[in-house]
Amino acid sequence: MRSNEDLYATAAALMADGKGILAADESDGTAGKRLAMVGLPNEPEHRQGFRELLFTAPGIEEFISGVIMYDSSMRNTTDDGIPFPDVLTARGMIPGIKVDRGLRPFQNFEDEQVTQGLDDLAERLKEYYALGARFTKWRAAYTISTVTPTPACMEANAVMLARYAALAQEAGLVPMVEPEVIFAGAHSIERAEEVTMHAVQTLFTKLREYRVDPKGVILKTSMVLAGDAHTEQSTPEQVANATVRMLHMSVPYDIAGIVFLSGGQAPKRATENLNAIGKLGKQVWPISSSFSRALEEPFLTEWQGKEENTAMAQKALLYRAKMNGLAQQGKYNPKRDVQAKKSSVKTGSQD
Ligand code: G3H
Repeated sequence: MRSNEDLYATAAALMADGKGILAADESDGTAGKRLAMVGLPNEPEHRQGFRELLFTAPGIEEFISGVIMYDSSMRNTTDDGIPFPDVLTARGMIPGIKVDRGLRPFQNFEDEQVTQGLDDLAERLKEYYALGARFTKWRAAYTISTVTPTPACMEANAVMLARYAALAQEAGLVPMVEPEVIFAGAHSIERAEEVTMHAVQTLFTKLREYRVDPKGVILKTSMVLAGDAHTEQSTPEQVANATVRMLHMSVPYDIAGIVFLSGGQAPKRATENLNAIGKLGKQVWPISSSFSRALEEPFLTEWQGKEENTAMAQKALLYRAKMNGLAQQGKYNPKRDVQAKKSSVKTGSQD
């Protein structure tokens, strides 16, 4: 049997202290929504330009260990013709790729979805490895209502995630398994904790059954917090306590690491919540962030699709990544966060 040492080394580098992982893996359609916020049409050259500015922001590698891309950007190049994965690797950031093919209705279950993409996955993974990817992501999503998510939906998605993770490890790619509990909704923090715990426990049961090597797995999960429409919004301390409790009840101690998605929280709020988790002290797993919207919003706010704003926009991205790096260590001071005072572009949903 092949040794998984390379997987462990990649995962450890992704989880480096003071760094996060940039999730720039929006599908072409969702990337178009980001561009629309700054008045640009959803054309391939604008998607390429947007990503090139993110990936080449001066100094970004100090706070970003890896970048998750989408199929089209994995194959893209800079204006100078350098493939994106090579640009990242040359700067010491690890190229990653979202490999699921999105959410589809879960038949017989109203308002629930299952993630697809297993059919030709083994072939795609080989190609992505050859293109330079060293880690991958697969996302399942659960919306909380009085009747959802059902155990059947969590089980079906966990099977997909486990099959994906086994295939990724076989191809020499670290699987990032993501069971996202959607922030939008009127649910309480207690309900979010119960659902997230169920989803994560179901996932790790399947990963074990499918003989996935835990030491070569990164969990990407939601923070536990009340829904955005709940009457009482959770404080950073509440979020940190509920999230870390959920993790200790659900996650094997020998996985390579845990990262959080931002889930539609405002950038500063995501940083504050990450900081509160960091302030609880070292846990048995390395813990960090893998934000998309909470990193891209400050960039888009400054950029507005205009070349003359590029340097400011890249600085805004760098600043947010630095704040998250401090928060990862519990060293962020929200009172000193100069970006927090600025209004942000709102980027909408993720996929
Ligand atoms: O799948 C979700 C993304 O990887 C993270 O996106 O930080 O905007 O929730 P987000």
